Amino acid sequence: MEAARAKVAQEVRFDINASNQAEVNAKAYRAIARSFVSDTVTVPTPEMYQYAMLGSLGDDVFHEPHTQALEAHLAKITGKEAALYVSSGTQSNQLALRAHLTQPPHSVLMDIRAHVNVHEGGGLAYHCGAATVAITPTNGHHITLDEVKKHIILDNQLGHAAVTRVIELENTLNGTIFPQDEIVAISDFAHSKGVLMHLDGARLWHVAAETGKSLTELCAPFDSVNMCFSKGLGAPIGSILAGPKDFIARARVLRKLFGGGMRQTGFLAAAAAYALTNNFPRLPAVHKLAQKLEAGLEALGVTITSRAETCMVFFSCEGLGFDASEVVKRAEALPDPITLFGERLVVHIQTSEEAVDDLLALFKALIEEKRAAGLANGVATNGSATSASPYVKA
Ligand SMILES: Cc1ncc(COP(=O)(O)O)c(C=O)c1O
Repeated sequence: MEAARAKVAQEVRFDINASNQAEVNAKAYRAIARSFVSDTVTVPTPEMYQYAMLGSLGDDVFHEPHTQALEAHLAKITGKEAALYVSSGTQSNQLALRAHLTQPPHSVLMDIRAHVNVHEGGGLAYHCGAATVAITPTNGHHITLDEVKKHIILDNQLGHAAVTRVIELENTLNGTIFPQDEIVAISDFAHSKGVLMHLDGARLWHVAAETGKSLTELCAPFDSVNMCFSKGLGAPIGSILAGPKDFIARARVLRKLFGGGMRQTGFLAAAAAYALTNNFPRLPAVHKLAQKLEAGLEALGVTITSRAETCMVFFSCEGLGFDASEVVKRAEALPDPITLFGERLVVHIQTSEEAVDDLLALFKALIEEKRAAGLANGVATNGSATSASPYVKA
C-alpha cells in the first residue's frame, strides 16, 4: 500500500518553478515594461506580494475578513450601500446585469463599442435573454442624452420591441473620459422613466485620478458599478461590484450559482488594498507618459484617432506607407522587443519611459525608411496630421 501511495504521489507531484525562476521572472518584468498591449499585463511586485502574504486567512463563501473589509471600503468610497468582490470585470458586469434583469423580453442600451457588447461572449443574451440597443456615438467619443432618447425603447404595446430596462455606460471607454454632466443628464432621464443605470467602470480609477472628482460623485448617477483591481491598478485578480444592499445580496447568490464563490481570497483582497494605496496615486504619471507618447507620434506625423485622455492612445498610419501590423512585427523584432496590439497603445504603471522612447524611435525609423523608398504620401511632418483626426476632444 505504501509503495502504491508513493507511486501516486510521484505521479501527482509537480515542481513548477524552474531552477532559474527568479531570472525568468526578472525577464518577464522587463517584457511587461515594454508591452503596450493592455494594462491587464501588469504583474504583482515583490512589495505587493509581501503585503498580500499578510492577508487574512478565511473562506470567502463564509465571508472572509479582509475580503469583507475591502467590500465595505469600496461601498464607502463609491457611495453605495454594499459591494461584492468578484473574480473579473466580465463577471462583475454579467452579475450586475443578471441581477437587474429579471423578466424578458427586455433590452440594455449601450455604446456599440462597450465591453459588454463586444467582449463578453454575448453574455447579455446568454445569461439574461436580453436584446441590445447599441448606439454608435455621432461625436465619435460618447453617446449623448439625445441619442439615448432617440434609441431607448420605453413601450412595447404592440409586442414588437424589447423594453429597455438598463442603460449601461462605460467610463473610461477606450481610455476616454465620459463627460460627467452628460452622464448625469442620461441618468436623470433614465430614472424618470424607471430605467436602471449600470456603470462598467473597469478603469474609473483613471477618471478620478485625472479629474480629481471623487468616486462617490462619479458613481452617484448609477444604480450599480463595476470597477477592476487587475487592470490599471496592477493587482493580480479581482473586481468589485457596488450597489444597493438587496441588489448585492442577489448578485452574491448569482456569483455562487455561477461557480464564482471563492475561498481563500484574503491575500487577493490585501493585494487590491495595496494597489489602492500605492498604485492609484501613480495614475496621473501614467497619463503623462501616454501624453508624451501621443505628442511624439503627432510630431512624427502619425494620426491620433483617439486621444490620451488617460492611459490609451489610438493611432492610424494612413499615408505613411505602412500599417499597424508592420509596426507590430518590427517592434517584436527589435533586439529588446516591444509588444504591441494593433492600433491601440496602452501605457500602465509598469511601462518604462525607455519603452516609450524606443517605440517613438521605431516609428521615426519606419517613416524615414518609407519616405526614402517613396512609399509615404501626403505625410504631415510637423504634427499637422492631427488636425485631420476624426476625434473631437470633449
Ligand atoms: C472596459 C472593460 N470592462 C470589462 C472588462 C472585463 O474585465 P476582465 O478581463 O477582468 O473580465 C474589460 C477588460 O479589459 C474592460 O476593458
